[in-house]
Amino acid sequence: MPRLSVWFIRASLVYLATGFTFGALILANKGLGFYPVVWNALPIHIEVLLLGWFVQFAFGVAFWILPRLKQDSPRGNETLILVAFVMLNLGIVLIIVETIFKAQGLEWIGRLAEVVGVAAFIVGSWQRVKPTIVP
Ligand code: HEM
Repeated sequence: MPRLSVWFIRASLVYLATGFTFGALILANKGLGFYPVVWNALPIHIEVLLLGWFVQFAFGVAFWILPRLKQDSPRGNETLILVAFVMLNLGIVLIIVETIFKAQGLEWIGRLAEVVGVAAFIVGSWQRVKPTIVP
């Protein structure tokens, strides 16, 4: 497995554990009503599981298994994929910080970073999405 896939998938597993923990806390609080402030973690639960876990896991596996190219860099432009990793995670962290500290304007920067990350992944992977000729 390429190193970038390892980074994507390890990060996605950390987000999976974090997201489930927040989900379990919110669920427990829903039933027992022990600490209503826990509801504030709902946006983090959603962000971490949808982008941190789902999207990031898909990126990691796709970068690993998409058909390789017949050139010096068989997985295409790896710099773009590195940009995708950095920007997606930067965006997620900024959204989490914004949710916790209610920092005005940080959400826009975070979302912009995520969009740049996803765009970099699309451009970096596009060439590798092609039919494989079965002999
Ligand atoms: C990949 C897995 C998951 C994803 C993508 C996910 C996503 C979401 C989303 C999008 C919402 C907002 C729903 C809405 O506002 O209508 C939500 C709410 C919630 N999730 Fe999750 N979730 C996941 C797993 C879990 C798990 C494992 C737990 C508990 C252990 C959990 C507990 C909750 C609770 C308690 C709410 C609030 C429900 C309410 O508004 O009454 N989630 N989740």
